[in-house]
Amino acid sequence: MSGKDRHGEGKFKRFGPYRIIEHQANVVVFAVLVITGLSQRYHAASWAQWLVMTLGGIDMVRFIHRSTGLVFSLFLIQHIAVAAYGLIFKKWGPSMIINKKDFSDAIDNLRYYFGITDRPARCDRYDYKQKFEYWGVTVGGVLMVITGLTLWFPTEIFSLLPMLPGQIIPAAKVAHTNEAMLAFLVIAIWHIYNSIFSPEVFPLDTSIFTGWISEERMIHEHPLEYERLTGEKLEGGHEAETKGLTDD
Ligand code: HEM
Repeated sequence: MSGKDRHGEGKFKRFGPYRIIEHQANVVVFAVLVITGLSQRYHAASWAQWLVMTLGGIDMVRFIHRSTGLVFSLFLIQHIAVAAYGLIFKKWGPSMIINKKDFSDAIDNLRYYFGITDRPARCDRYDYKQKFEYWGVTVGGVLMVITGLTLWFPTEIFSLLPMLPGQIIPAAKVAHTNEAMLAFLVIAIWHIYNSIFSPEVFPLDTSIFTGWISEERMIHEHPLEYERLTGEKLEGGHEAETKGLTDD
């Protein structure tokens, strides 16, 4: 898709329908896994007991958690497959790959926040914070799937990989339960702050619902992508460093 196609009246197309549906579906699936997972972990707490009884008892909660875990695993596999297909066959730019500039952008922004420089980092389609969140969720998701399947099929794991030590089961439980807490806190604190409470987007960053982002935000948050899509040079700007196309 060319920059011109993406450029509307004072706004830019940021996400296509596929990414919007994928995000919303993941929100629902993740919420169900957190609710049904944490109510098992904190089974002695009164809120967890109320939740388990409301959902129909512990067997039902475990059934919901496992079936939703399966859906989560399929989402993750399709996400990785679509990314690989796009990179190999559709020549998508690797817009989520972490590069050297992300590290210098983080330092530049720190200098800006401390008042040492008067200009924030000039980021491309995804800034270093968005990449950090994306890789955290994706790598964390793979870990949740592997450890979840290990807890679900403990005997099958040993028939498949007999060389594995027995400690793998309690280790999977520790990793699954602690990564769940970490993922929950990152989403509840960091992601919700960035998409709702951050002054730049308050009261809500609507781009993942509508697919559009304002020109003002593009210039402020993604100046390099703005320059690449419009062919315009922003004041004090320099040539966009990443020339790849972006995915839908
Ligand atoms: C990514 C989101 C997920 C979260 C937040 C999550 C959270 C949790 C938590 C907190 C527990 C309780 C652990 C404990 O008792 O200390 C748990 C248990 C479990 N989880 Fe997950 N989980 C997730 C994904 C998955 C996936 C993808 C699978 C399988 C494919 C899975 C399968 C299981 C199983 C089998 C258990 C043991 C309880 C049972 O027998 O049902 N989970 N999960």
